[in-house]
Amino acid sequence: MARHLITSAIPYINGIKHLGNLVGSQLPADLFARYQRGRGHEVLFLCSTDEHGTPAELAAAKAGKPVAEYCAEMHEVQARIAEGFRLSFDHFGRSSSEENHKLTQHFAGRLAEAGLIAEVNEKQMYSHADGRYLPDRYIEGTCPNCGFDSARGDQCDNCTKQLDPVDLINPHSTISGSTDLEMRETKHLYLRQTQLRGQLEEWIDSKTDWPVLTTSIAKKWLRDGDGLQDRGITRDLDWGVPVKKGDQDWPGMEGKVFYVWFDAPIEYIACSQEWVAAGKGSDWERWWRTDKGAEDVTYTQFMGKDNVPFHTLSFPCTILGSGEPWKLVDYIKSFNYLNYDGGQFSTSRGRGVFMDQALEILPSDYWRWWLLSHAPESSDSEFTWENFQQSVNKDLADVLGNFVSRITKFCRSKFGEEVPAGGAFGAKEAEVIAALSERLTAYQGFMDAIEVRKAAGELRAIWVIGNEYLQDAAPWSTFKEDPETAAMQVRFGLNLIRLYAILSAPFIPDAAATMLAAMKTEDSAWPGSVETALSALPAGHGFEVPENLFRKITDEEREEWQARFAGVRT
Ligand code: 2FM
Ligand code: ZN
Repeated sequence: MARHLITSAIPYINGIKHLGNLVGSQLPADLFARYQRGRGHEVLFLCSTDEHGTPAELAAAKAGKPVAEYCAEMHEVQARIAEGFRLSFDHFGRSSSEENHKLTQHFAGRLAEAGLIAEVNEKQMYSHADGRYLPDRYIEGTCPNCGFDSARGDQCDNCTKQLDPVDLINPHSTISGSTDLEMRETKHLYLRQTQLRGQLEEWIDSKTDWPVLTTSIAKKWLRDGDGLQDRGITRDLDWGVPVKKGDQDWPGMEGKVFYVWFDAPIEYIACSQEWVAAGKGSDWERWWRTDKGAEDVTYTQFMGKDNVPFHTLSFPCTILGSGEPWKLVDYIKSFNYLNYDGGQFSTSRGRGVFMDQALEILPSDYWRWWLLSHAPESSDSEFTWENFQQSVNKDLADVLGNFVSRITKFCRSKFGEEVPAGGAFGAKEAEVIAALSERLTAYQGFMDAIEVRKAAGELRAIWVIGNEYLQDAAPWSTFKEDPETAAMQVRFGLNLIRLYAILSAPFIPDAAATMLAAMKTEDSAWPGSVETALSALPAGHGFEVPENLFRKITDEEREEWQARFAGVRT
């Protein structure tokens, strides 16, 4: 039995995520976790909310709530939606946990001892009215280059020139609008990533099996000009992990916190400690410490492409720099973007379908199937309502749903609610078994390699084989002349339903559970061979006709939804 540690990029706490976010990390991670569990392997699947940083503080202020309270509430909201999508995390943690505070401070202490932290004095814009230092993007003013009047402190969106807040003419705080700003001296910690370049390069070069998307981004950042730089890991904020060296105070760093991107990946580890603290597991170190049993763990991370530099460079620097035997990631599966109906998903403009809204209109399996079978792997992909309607109606309703419904209803009407006997499987069945065996091998290969779209394609083909068999064998015609053969065909078909439930469960877990329940079996063991799997339900085994597995999306619904999600979320 292999052991798989699986993490999904942890979603920011502010706001509900859209379907593009979902398909870029949590959903494929869930697919892989369910598949590995299905294959009988030991899995620890972790995700959390990413709760620190200025956006969280501002969202809380906007909601009129203390930030801790806001985060606690939003964590519950995200946890419920994750359940709605059947994301099977072993634990859904919080980066603001006590565990993550301690562990983040521990890493900072280790890095300091290793001489990898520099203390740097720098100037930063302080807003008297807001009573805080302002991150660059919360300062706006007139662009010195093109005269655009809403250039941000880091960049002008009009002429794209990279800016420094001091360059702006008439700068003001975007939080309060105040122009009462002052450049003040403040001290920050820098992680000396440049010291680790050699180690990092060697490690990345050793990852010859990573997806091109992952390695190309990693190498670009590592080698291009000023890619790998020393990185500021502290901020002048109230909300976050207070800067400490282990459990010791850090002189001169009072009142400061670690940068959200420093503590967020550390939460992957802390989450496993939260999992233990919640009484769900007993030994987190055997997953994370190579001196405590984690050397035989395979660790896979899932994320959108924008997160790749943080996971191929920054977080590995934290781990390597600590000098401790922490488990490094073995495989990074990254995704391109999912676009929405001719444009981009937009959180600020409410353009596209958000996770809560999706579940209000259709059950999670419909979304899971479309999103995974169109995952933006080799390039960006696009959600359109036409395509969604077509996939659901064809793959789920016409192919899989129809197969299950026809075979169970036919059996009930002619043989009752028991698997009929009939004779041994014949030539037609042998052909189907051979075709399915080939497809199954391919399906497993793609799932092992996390080739999500290709795996979905194989699964679809596996469903199609059953439908074609039914069409071809036509037990309803056979029955008139030869009820014995019809019984055998139906027995074959009912066993196919069970096989389909097992193979489809990683993609559409609810429908899979309904199919297994209808077949009145708890034996969901992954098939060793198709042939044996198709004899699992013997003659006389009871079953029932399930509710329709999938309904079709009508043209009216499609049009209505298209209009509803076009923009400006209320
Ligand atoms: O991009 C994001 O949504 C980030 N919150 C991902 C963080 S992943 C990690 F490092 F924890
Ligand atoms: Zn400009």
